[in-house]
Amino acid sequence: MRIPITLTVNGSARAIELDDPRVTLLDLLRERLDLTGTKKGCDRGQCGACTVLLDGRRVNACLALAVSLDGAEIVTVEGLAPEGRLHPVQAAFIAHDGFQCGFCTPGQIMSAVGLIREGQAGSDPERVREGMSGNLCRCGAYAGITEAVLAAQAEMTGRGEDAA
Ligand code: FES
Ligand code: FES
Repeated sequence: MRIPITLTVNGSARAIELDDPRVTLLDLLRERLDLTGTKKGCDRGQCGACTVLLDGRRVNACLALAVSLDGAEIVTVEGLAPEGRLHPVQAAFIAHDGFQCGFCTPGQIMSAVGLIREGQAGSDPERVREGMSGNLCRCGAYAGITEAVLAAQAEMTGRGEDAA
């Protein structure tokens, strides 16, 4: 059985035929669309490594069934810098040492973009930590991640930019 769906992924329309209704958005992105920036950590909604924006909201791609997303708009980490110019959140992660091994980083960055876009980041580090609590970092780069989110939020708010 083949199930046709269409998605907009990083601004491009994609027509996809699913051969299995159990395919997750994460596996679709990584294995069918070659967008391997989105990472698979736990594959069960516990680590946040697979975070992407779905219709502007952050979700764990490992928990979303692709078949249920017909017509949706997806943004992955590859979609943040389409012309090679880093997104302010990406630049802030570099400036504030928001990573070590980098495995969790795409998910952290997408979650931060979603958090800022939701208007939930504010200027309180505790609020940022709470808002980012679904994204685990085994290297323990949390201090830099929080600084990066605060800096990006301040910069983007100062510029009056949309976050995604
Ligand atoms: Fe999706 Fe861990 S891989 S939450
Ligand atoms: Fe290594 Fe977060 S930077 S897991």
